Amino acid sequence: MIVSETQRLRIRAWKETDRDLFFEINNDPKVMEFFPHRRSREESDALFDRVGRGITETGLGFFAVALKDDDRPIGFCGLAYTDLAPYLPKGTVEIGWRLAVPFWGKGYITEAAFDLLRFGFEEKGLREIVSFAIPENTRSTAVMVRLGMHRDPTRDFNHPRIPADKPQLVRHVLYAMTRADWQAQRART
Ligand SMILES: CC(C)(COP(=O)(O)OP(=O)(O)OC[C@H]1O[C@@H](n2cnc3c(N)ncnc32)[C@H](O)[C@@H]1OP(=O)(O)O)[C@@H](O)C(=O)NCCC(=O)NCCS
Repeated sequence: MIVSETQRLRIRAWKETDRDLFFEINNDPKVMEFFPHRRSREESDALFDRVGRGITETGLGFFAVALKDDDRPIGFCGLAYTDLAPYLPKGTVEIGWRLAVPFWGKGYITEAAFDLLRFGFEEKGLREIVSFAIPENTRSTAVMVRLGMHRDPTRDFNHPRIPADKPQLVRHVLYAMTRADWQAQRART
């Protein structure tokens, strides 16, 4: 299943042959710097299966991002239902990303995520898309800013699923975009 194609990228469902790349990103200390732990091969494969099932069941999820020229996977980017009640109620849709380090600094995630905002608002009829990160993860919050998402400090929250031995990863800042914001941004450009 191909979700969409941009100038340089293909956003698509995962293929069995993508498992190595999926493990590479989920085990890389640099990619996982702001997450509680790196994943073993077994954990990565289990997550790979869960993500694939989520895409099949909901039509949304963290999709593979591949180079359009040769279909080589380089990371993931997607829209997913998140349930972090009471901070983010059930039904909230987040946009998120992870990219293999050799592909950082080329604008790939901004390109993929921008098209996923279009997909979410224009094809799926979503009313709002949020994104969140710890404040120190400035590469990620920079993507949110480049996309035109708005920081909403009133919705910053303490992530309820961060283990007790990682207090530095608890506080999250939230950015959001509504469908009206998206339409206004499209009208301007
Ligand atoms: C977050 C993450 C995806 C951002 O990757 P990134 O490469 O910085 O982001 P983009 O793909 O949007 O690229 C933007 C960079 O490419 C540069 N760039 C080059 N060509 C570009 C182009 N055509 N268009 C836009 N930017 C371009 C930008 O200047 C920017 O570089 P800079 O940070 O040095 O200013 C990546 O750092 C990552 O995977 N981090 C680990 C996982 C993670 O933390 N995920 C988020 C959890 S909340």
